Amino acid sequence: MATLGQIIFYSMITLIVVFSALIILILALTFSGSLSEVMSSNKAPIANIGEDKLLSCYLKTQSEKPRVSQVSVTWTKKGLQGLVYRYEDGAPDLKDQNSQFRGRTELFPDTLVTGNASLLMRNVRRSDEGEYTCSISSSDGGGKVNIHLRTAAFSAPKFTFSNGALVAEANRWLPKPNVTWLNPDGDVLQGNTSFSQSSAGIYSVVSVLQPVNISSAYTCRIENDLVISVSTATVTGSGVSENTYFTYSAASSLLASAYLSITTSVFCIYYLT
Ligand SMILES: *[C@@H]1O[C@H](CO)[C@@H](O)[C@H](O)[C@H]1NC(C)=O
Ligand SMILES: *[C@@H]1O[C@H](CO)[C@@H](O)[C@H](O)[C@H]1NC(C)=O
Ligand SMILES: *[C@@H]1O[C@H](CO)[C@@H](O)[C@H](O)[C@H]1NC(C)=O
Repeated sequence: MATLGQIIFYSMITLIVVFSALIILILALTFSGSLSEVMSSNKAPIANIGEDKLLSCYLKTQSEKPRVSQVSVTWTKKGLQGLVYRYEDGAPDLKDQNSQFRGRTELFPDTLVTGNASLLMRNVRRSDEGEYTCSISSSDGGGKVNIHLRTAAFSAPKFTFSNGALVAEANRWLPKPNVTWLNPDGDVLQGNTSFSQSSAGIYSVVSVLQPVNISSAYTCRIENDLVISVSTATVTGSGVSENTYFTYSAASSLLASAYLSITTSVFCIYYLT
């Protein structure tokens, strides 16, 4: 049977624990409330030359639906004279913009009020490859994030069947890829691949697989260090049925996010202790 003294003692201990937990929670909320951070959903994007690419950059605040005001955004590129883009006082300010980006870059003014400063780059060129920095300042804080844009060319192969051979033709690849054929069991088959290069240095790929069995699904992988295209092709009575998807090299963006989560946790521990 517990004595009154013991009951009071344990009640006190419980209260102290509960209050400490509350204080820690309040402190954590107060500090995190003033924390805003500039982030990117992809710090190592790969753009297809000739197409448009969105470079993601946004201000992450505590609120679910942020409304930020007095936003100014500057996009710069390492080693570049002048700017990629600047937005200030409610309008684009392009007097210092490098001519390489003139008319090819834009922000989304409608989403700036939510802290979204993503940059749309049109008609990406090989020379756009490099290290970009997005800086945001606003009433709700700011910061910067680095984004490493890499450029490549990649296109899905088209398949044809003639004289007992399955032929894959892909006309835009850079850097130079390699081609691997697999049978339905995943065994590597010997194909015959040839390349030709356009004046712009882009490779066109033709790969021939022979012999092939009708109705068997063959896999054709075209890959370089940046992009992998995986196609499944099946010769049918009336032609070839095909289906392709792309995957992108993620090594560097994975590393970047692992690094980010480590710094974030160190940061939190620092504030909580
Ligand atoms: C920012 O805006 C762009 C363009 O509207 C959109 O594609 C992107 O998803 C937005 N990003 C965020 C984090 O809201
Ligand atoms: C075609 O099918 C036969 C019998 O299933 C198999 O032995 C052979 O390896 C196949 N050939 C190819 C190119 O897949
Ligand atoms: C094909 O290229 C990729 C990327 O460059 C490389 O990792 C892979 O080893 C190559 N495969 C062959 C069979 O050469």
